[in-house]
Amino acid sequence: MPTQKTKAKSAPDSLSFEFGRVCLYYSILPFYEIAHMSEKDPAASSHTYLNHDSYHAEGAASPPIYQTSLFTFGSYEEMEVRFKGQSDRALYSRIDNPTVTALLQKLCLLEGGEKALAFSSGIAAISNAVLGLIRTGDHIVCVNHCYPDTYRLLQLVCTRFGVTTEFVNGSDTAAVAKALPGARILYLESPTSWLFQEQDLRALAQLAQTHGVVSLVDNSWASPIYQQPLAAGIDLVVHSATKYISGHSDVVAGALVGRADLINHLSAETAAYLGAKLSAHEASLLLRGLRTLPLRMERVHLSGLTLAKQLSDHSSVKHVNHPGLRVNPHSHLTGYGGLFSFEAGDALDIPRFCNALEFFKLGVSWGGHESLVMPAEISIGQAGSCSAAVDFGVSPRLIRLYVGLEDVSDLWEDLERALFAASPHG
Ligand SMILES: Cc1ncc(COP(=O)(O)O)c(C=O)c1O
Repeated sequence: MPTQKTKAKSAPDSLSFEFGRVCLYYSILPFYEIAHMSEKDPAASSHTYLNHDSYHAEGAASPPIYQTSLFTFGSYEEMEVRFKGQSDRALYSRIDNPTVTALLQKLCLLEGGEKALAFSSGIAAISNAVLGLIRTGDHIVCVNHCYPDTYRLLQLVCTRFGVTTEFVNGSDTAAVAKALPGARILYLESPTSWLFQEQDLRALAQLAQTHGVVSLVDNSWASPIYQQPLAAGIDLVVHSATKYISGHSDVVAGALVGRADLINHLSAETAAYLGAKLSAHEASLLLRGLRTLPLRMERVHLSGLTLAKQLSDHSSVKHVNHPGLRVNPHSHLTGYGGLFSFEAGDALDIPRFCNALEFFKLGVSWGGHESLVMPAEISIGQAGSCSAAVDFGVSPRLIRLYVGLEDVSDLWEDLERALFAASPHG
């Protein structure tokens, strides 16, 4: 398994191999040109790229959905060349599909990654990465307030193969440094679930490199629009594409983006056999979601921050957990997602508050168009014996809000009304 970092390449150069395959279907020359305009902001240019698919056949404005399980060959020789690995022609949709490949190109450009893989869920991307990198007897270092099912994967599945995990406060760089020697993977999620604590990605990436540890960040919360872990030296980025990349609450999907040697290793040695790959139809929905990702992120950034500030001044609220309300000199965020939490004041009746809300629907997940509320006491109550929230002390008085695309003043009125209804005077 590769552990040494290869020299970082610029995204467009390193994508040239993958581009070959897609060139069969799309004209991608404009993307190269955009990426090479050095006087332009590369991030802004990659957003332009999200809205340009110069697909030639019939002048289609959107990439076609290759709804096929397999791709046939015109001759024995053509098939033989593909099997020898001398052609990039698509073979079988569990391995490669042109619609999925079009999505991977865009994810690589957005994250500044060399290569990418797409999966049928975010947790499939996480489990493929972790299971593909570990060997019996390995050790993992992971942030303590990680996504609950990541915690369960590490605690319930990896331990069965003799792989142990030490959970650390990721905001404490010295604590991570102490835990790292001898580890195989450094698993980060910045900001974390429930408490939204950031990690110093650049410092931790450097530490991981020094110790020959593969670093991986769950970047679902910020999306590639507001955080670029690979540019900070992190090896792999994972996404629950179910969230902002889809953006419409109609897809469950995941992605891994990063170093080509690691992605090649995971592709050849794990992903093909675990089989949780993304379908062409869902890849097409994600390509649609990506077109509006920068616009939607701008909206949830502004609305989320506005509501977090207003809540922090409210008498029924003890404390708000939002990275935008903290001073953090090591922050890598250039903007904020719409997900944050607050601790209810002692007098607030949490069930009454949730039931009084009109626009914030009770629901898990986040990243779509609709605002959501998730009380920690329900989540913790159902968590069973393996819960990061229980083990690392998330308060049952915590309420998580996801601020969607609705009008922010309607959302504030909704929150104010529900806070009043759930207070002793309500
Ligand atoms: C931060 C984070 N990572 C990963 C996941 C898992 O993604 P999925 O539900 O797409 O499997 C989630 C799901 O809520 C999440 O919140």
